[in-house]
Amino acid sequence: MDYIISKETKDPNYKCGSPFHGDKIFISIMLDALKKSEYFIETGTAYGDTLKFIVDNFQNMKAISCEPDHYRHDVVTNFIPEAEIVKITSPQIFEYVKEKYPEAHSKKTIFWLDAHGDYNGTVFWPLREEIEFIKNNYSDYYILIDDFKNPYNGNFKYDMVGDIPCGLEYIKDLVSDVNVYYPTYDEHTSEAWHDLIGWVLITKETFNDDRLILHT
Ligand SMILES: C[S@@+](CC[C@H](N)C(=O)[O-])C[C@H]1O[C@@H](n2cnc3c(N)ncnc32)[C@H](O)[C@@H]1O
Repeated sequence: MDYIISKETKDPNYKCGSPFHGDKIFISIMLDALKKSEYFIETGTAYGDTLKFIVDNFQNMKAISCEPDHYRHDVVTNFIPEAEIVKITSPQIFEYVKEKYPEAHSKKTIFWLDAHGDYNGTVFWPLREEIEFIKNNYSDYYILIDDFKNPYNGNFKYDMVGDIPCGLEYIKDLVSDVNVYYPTYDEHTSEAWHDLIGWVLITKETFNDDRLILHT
């Protein structure tokens, strides 16, 4: 599938859009899953680089994101009118979707969990609540967590939240019954980021892709 990455961005740090960090291998691994999904739910919109990519390339997908920062929320709402950006935090977004789109729970949904930074000067990390909610309410999901520590390839950078690495240790008990895939590639394909940025895919599905390793 051909896709477009917008040259436009509202992010003051970039010269062009950089969905999924601009990592084209990441995008190509996930294209089929994105095509098959009916909902895209993102926590942490920031300047909408990933969200813009979703609405530009997957017009049939319902795209919902949340961003508590007033400025970013308002800028991106104007920038990407096709998406629904809610000015609330995660995990509240999950209750919001449950109430407004109850049918979403039975549809294939792709989650981009990216709200694990500082907000408002506090370190608040809803990752465990997010995963628990998804697993208890959705049957058919792909969970992508950004900035995730990769035990197989140390070239991937990851976030620390306070003194806790964004990695499997923190959520291990919640995902022991589903497939956890890590990227294995080394190529750097982003025009916007200098580093490879870690991510993880959690799903009930099986991925046969030699750019991924199934964690056992
Ligand atoms: C790394 S950026 C998101 C980048 C974006 N997902 C993308 O791929 O283009 C993180 C954003 O999460 C927001 N954030 C932090 N804590 C949050 C929370 N609990 N709920 C929702 N957003 C949060 C921050 O304000 C920031 O704009």
